[in-house]
Amino acid sequence: MKKHLTFLLLWAITLPLFAQTPVYLNPAAPLEDRVEDALQRMTLEEKVAVLHAQSKFSSAGVPRLGIPESWMSDGPHGVRAEVLWDEWYGANWTNDSCIAFPALTALAASWNPEVAALYGKSIGEEARYRNKNVLLGPGVNIYRTPLNGRNFEYMGEDPCLAAQMVVPYVREVQKNGVAACVKHFALNNQEIDRGHVNVQVSDRALYEIYLPAFKAAVQQGGAWAIMGAYNQYKDQHCCHNQYLLNDILKRDWGFDGVVISDWGGVHDTEQAIANGLDMEFGTWTNGMDWSKSDSYSRYYMAQPYLQLLKDGRADEKILNDKVRRVLRLVFRTNMSPNRPYGSFGTQEHAEAGRRIAEEGIVLLQNNRNVLPIDLSKTKSILVVGENAVKRMTIGGGSSSLKAKYEASPLAGIQARVGNAAQVTYVKGYESPAEREQDVKNAQEAQLKTIDAKALRAEAVEAAKSADVVLFIGGLNKNGGQDCEGADRAGLELPYEQDLLIAELAKANPSTVVALVSGNAVAMPWVAQVPAIVEAWYGGTEAGNAIAAVLFGDVNPSGKLPFTFPVRLQDNGAHAAGEYPGDGKSVAYRDDIFVGYRWLDKEKIKPLFAFGHGLSYTTFQYGKAVADKSKITASDAVTVTLSVKNTGVRDGAEVVQLYISDKKASLPRPVKELKGFKKIRLKAGEEQTVTFTIDQTALSFYSNVNGAWVAEPGEFEALIGASSADIRATVKFVLQ
Ligand code: BGC
Repeated sequence: MKKHLTFLLLWAITLPLFAQTPVYLNPAAPLEDRVEDALQRMTLEEKVAVLHAQSKFSSAGVPRLGIPESWMSDGPHGVRAEVLWDEWYGANWTNDSCIAFPALTALAASWNPEVAALYGKSIGEEARYRNKNVLLGPGVNIYRTPLNGRNFEYMGEDPCLAAQMVVPYVREVQKNGVAACVKHFALNNQEIDRGHVNVQVSDRALYEIYLPAFKAAVQQGGAWAIMGAYNQYKDQHCCHNQYLLNDILKRDWGFDGVVISDWGGVHDTEQAIANGLDMEFGTWTNGMDWSKSDSYSRYYMAQPYLQLLKDGRADEKILNDKVRRVLRLVFRTNMSPNRPYGSFGTQEHAEAGRRIAEEGIVLLQNNRNVLPIDLSKTKSILVVGENAVKRMTIGGGSSSLKAKYEASPLAGIQARVGNAAQVTYVKGYESPAEREQDVKNAQEAQLKTIDAKALRAEAVEAAKSADVVLFIGGLNKNGGQDCEGADRAGLELPYEQDLLIAELAKANPSTVVALVSGNAVAMPWVAQVPAIVEAWYGGTEAGNAIAAVLFGDVNPSGKLPFTFPVRLQDNGAHAAGEYPGDGKSVAYRDDIFVGYRWLDKEKIKPLFAFGHGLSYTTFQYGKAVADKSKITASDAVTVTLSVKNTGVRDGAEVVQLYISDKKASLPRPVKELKGFKKIRLKAGEEQTVTFTIDQTALSFYSNVNGAWVAEPGEFEALIGASSADIRATVKFVLQ
């Protein structure tokens, strides 16, 4: 009775308070009611103010109404260090050192959506703790050419793989009340001329290759934000593009979040208003004055927009749509009652990063089973190569991080080996930028030119007497390598590494090559070295993850998310397509034949195929069985097969499903990835793997109908360990 009375009393006291609480401040009210309520309270000035930046990485809230600012951060591999209000320079905070997670190529190489979820959860918690409500990532632009300087920020060449990996990343980030801002929408597949190049692509290639990962992020991942790309499509910049933003994203996909411009990607007020942009960032104002005190009010979506509205030349309906989207963003993030507190730089996140790195490392070649290195038989290990010691969480452009720490490969190897063997390090080669850092000024660096021959000779001499040589090289995050703002000049390894590897291999037959890169490289020495590992950029725990694989604590299970071609001309963009275009536009004449689709069509043998990756154990694939031989359009076929671990170690295998359309009215790829499963098998264990194939897996996008079409006829399911290693097939007919 007493309890009842207290409750009634409380109710009587708080009811008038609730009655006075505006709907937009009531966390229990439906989102759209809150949005409408806030919207109708805002002045024109307040509405325009939330649509553009107020600093390098923030935009205004509505202080009068208690609606907070939005704060963004790169993304996609860790939460970037704070920069000054008006400048790109670091703000020199002492509490913004993050956990650097592996580059997205490494994540994609795990082929494990659970790992993508772990990535999203961990980075989302870091962003939340740092009070960001938008994380500028993940990136899902398709890997069209191995020269693209930003490939390391993306998830490979296949739309099915990228789509399946991006969804859990986005969902888990957003559970922290932080919006994932999926980028760069769309067709930003090269850095050369990225600010203006007009991409000419067929609708079919657009829908089949370049859009699916974005669509999945929006529709399945529920992304709250998306970033427009720098380049143009159909003669309009992608940050204000009628086709991509209004027609496809907002109308067809039903996206109700915000379109954020890439930094400096806006070029015109009226187009920005009309063509789907919601928030403008990074504009260079008048092209020279980056840090003028009133520069933000000069943004295209600031004073110029307000003026048009005041003059009656801009429609308030369009304005309200943009403001609604920003309000939705704020209510979903900063003003969400369910927002956890997050955590930053924790041991748990470092361990998550290590797990991701370990699952992504790809064992490309392992002749004579030289890996894992057996320390009971190895007394001296020579580590060669700049990438064994170079910090890779720094550089690369906007994804550069201030990491709490970074375990280098050399440190990881030394820690793992301990006293069990002698570990010696020699550089073997040196990149010019590194030399500059060493001697502190460019002039001195020029005087002290790198003596590549001497460095090489020293390494080769040391290699002769070592039991094992571990060469750790590849690309780096310097300009012209894996770095934003430029593309690579060629497929070859830089800094004469090819020469060095060949000489090391001659001097010591137990030379293992571990590459740190986010891109494919040529390997003229492939037949000379027994083992090759692609380790990617592994973040904070990179070196420990590499050591774990090299010494067998972890059985590698990564698979390539893109093809390693023998030569650049084996890639479709370089053979048939255009790259990088004529300075104004680039025609994607390779069309839908991106990555392995091109090599399959031309019957070109890759250096290492899409989906390839070895293990320290072996897997045997059984016969594939379909539950029916004929299906109708509304039906699905279920294909099962058993996979057995036939080795003596536990391991994981990525079982890949490709579909081949046997006869079609238009050219189709020889096969296309339509599903995959990563399974863990103890030594000797066998498991049944099941794939359900419905019409969507059989369809192509018709340029004529503007729709997805599944043509009746014969199809084949190909199941394999890579795109070039098909182990089982089964046919069925679509009626
Ligand atoms: C990049 C974006 C990044 C932004 C902010 C741009 O140069 O293209 O990916 O999020 O800068 O740093």
